Amino acid sequence: MIIRNFNHILHGGDYNPDQWLHTPGTIDRDFELMEKAHCNTFSVGIFSWSQLEVEPDRFEFGWLDDIFERCEKTGKKLFLATPSASKPAWLAQRWPDSCRVDRAGVRDRWGARQNSCFSSPGYRERVRIVNRKLAERYAHHPALGGWHISNEYHGECGCELCRHRFHDFLRKRYGTLENFNQANWSAFWGHAITDWSQVEPFDYSTDATALDWWRFCTEVIVDFFQMEIDAVREFSDAPVTTNLMGLFPTLDYWKFAPLCDFISDDCYPTWLDGDTEREAASVSLRHDMHYTMLGKPFLMMESCPGIPNYARYPKLRRPGEFEREMLLALGHGADGTMYFQWRKGRNNCEKFHGAVVGHDGTDQTLTFRRVASYGEKLERLSGLVGAEKKPVTAVIYDWESNWAFGQCNAAGGNQVKQWEATAINHYRALWNHNIDLAVIDSEQDFSHYKLLVLPMLFLFKPGVLERLRDFVEQGGTLVATYFTGYVDENNNCFSGGNPGGAAGRELFGIWNEDFDGLQPTSRQTIVWNGRRYPVEDYAELLHLEGAESEATYGDDFYAGTPAVTRRKLGKGCVVYLGARTGMEFLNDFYGSLLKEAGVEPVLTGLPDAVRAARRSASDGSDYYFLYNLTGTEQPVNLPATMTDIWNGGEATRCVTLPPNGATVLQFKP
Ligand code: GAL
Repeated sequence: MIIRNFNHILHGGDYNPDQWLHTPGTIDRDFELMEKAHCNTFSVGIFSWSQLEVEPDRFEFGWLDDIFERCEKTGKKLFLATPSASKPAWLAQRWPDSCRVDRAGVRDRWGARQNSCFSSPGYRERVRIVNRKLAERYAHHPALGGWHISNEYHGECGCELCRHRFHDFLRKRYGTLENFNQANWSAFWGHAITDWSQVEPFDYSTDATALDWWRFCTEVIVDFFQMEIDAVREFSDAPVTTNLMGLFPTLDYWKFAPLCDFISDDCYPTWLDGDTEREAASVSLRHDMHYTMLGKPFLMMESCPGIPNYARYPKLRRPGEFEREMLLALGHGADGTMYFQWRKGRNNCEKFHGAVVGHDGTDQTLTFRRVASYGEKLERLSGLVGAEKKPVTAVIYDWESNWAFGQCNAAGGNQVKQWEATAINHYRALWNHNIDLAVIDSEQDFSHYKLLVLPMLFLFKPGVLERLRDFVEQGGTLVATYFTGYVDENNNCFSGGNPGGAAGRELFGIWNEDFDGLQPTSRQTIVWNGRRYPVEDYAELLHLEGAESEATYGDDFYAGTPAVTRRKLGKGCVVYLGARTGMEFLNDFYGSLLKEAGVEPVLTGLPDAVRAARRSASDGSDYYFLYNLTGTEQPVNLPATMTDIWNGGEATRCVTLPPNGATVLQFKP
């Protein structure tokens, strides 16, 4: 249960009553509308620092006390934010070093948000003070559900304080300058250093330092997050979280997870034409990752109930799409879906961002009616709270591989590299077969899984190769793709050839001699099970060293050489995909592999346009979530009669999904 003793699927959103203190009647009206929308939980105070501490040490809690009281009276819960995301003007004026410095050395001016220097002593101290004040005041309030620490932490700062910390970070990591110089291959372009202070974090030519910089940025923010938690913990033991941003590229979110009592995420898909399957898969990937991070239900903290104003095409959701988006989260392990935001503000850069209550202030809008109807149905799902997922297939998503690969020249620009898109495509091909999935990083335990997929695991952290070998020998099926195991933890290429040097070659039973970067005009194919599939961007030249060839290249001077290989090892097997293919190959390939590996779909016999997810509750019942990815109705045959818990009644071996719609069925054996 995310909030102690609160056995409900959480439903609500970011609530900013402090923007409405001068508009009489608005807050009263909000609380009426909250009932109508069946909302039970809100996040408050996220950007309220200057409304709570109007000048240094002058606090005004009256408006927040009022919101707490109203929530207590009406049985609602609050996630109280620490307000560090947006510092007051007085703070920046008095402590100018709280503003960040960019890579060119220019200090930012006050304004916007989420742009403070995490090393600034003044900023840190003021955050600690305001957090303690809030915690002291509200720790024992019955409406407090938990702590929403800051908001969407991210970013880097190039100030002198941060540079010093970076140098300390390197000293700790490498111990001696000699180790550092070696790991950095520093004879290249004469970059040996004789003092830590000489290390330049933004030198585009040093791949190891670039990688360390991103590690450092994660460490600095995690340290700040811990400092914020410690301040709150002096008074309150309520659960803490910070809202993550899915696959946000420059933070290693695996390092944030251990500090959270529950994971929360902000998720803003757009559902543009032609993109439904890819988008639904990519949203499911992040939900599965957030479930896996702590092995328990997470919270979708933010989503957009109307039009997402930042999107290139801020499309209004078509009938069905809103509910399907919310149920995707619940089916993949969320115990709540919340919105940004409850009420639309009247001005500034988010004034057109969808909100439950619009500028008309009524319950008459399409958005409000959709939210209210969804909220009402959610009340039927209290049995889902805490329900588990039990995946036996895992996809590895490891930020360090993305950083290391992104930094390397030669493999094309990011348009071609597509590290993140590759992970999504492999996940998507598996998800297309309706199996339950976990998303892990390479440091998690592999032994829970039958099938492990490594999309472009470019960087092997120490010990990973040995753990992969154990996994296979114990009976696991391992799939790796092109650009797996090229570098070690310092972005140094492996000696002895790819993948992964001598030990990796032995595990995979191949030698990957080189890669061919394909142009849009190049023609290459692979031939697998008698069919030809197009190859794009990358094709590697593979030699068999114990593995067998499962598919060969169809074109060019290396036609007939292996493109997909397979090696049996111990009780398991290792498959290597040497080329980037489209979805057609991935769908066929994983379809056959899942059967071999003995991985069962959540439900069988579904129409092509329908996907399923399952969660198992402690009372022995299974909740089946069905998603229609198309704009036409889809009848779905069921293996048994189930309870149509979402719409009411019985689903006697068949249920019909509305266009773009979704539903939830309960099966109690
Ligand atoms: C989130 C942010 C919210 C709001 C929202 C708009 O990233 O946390 O405060 O700005 O985006 O989509």
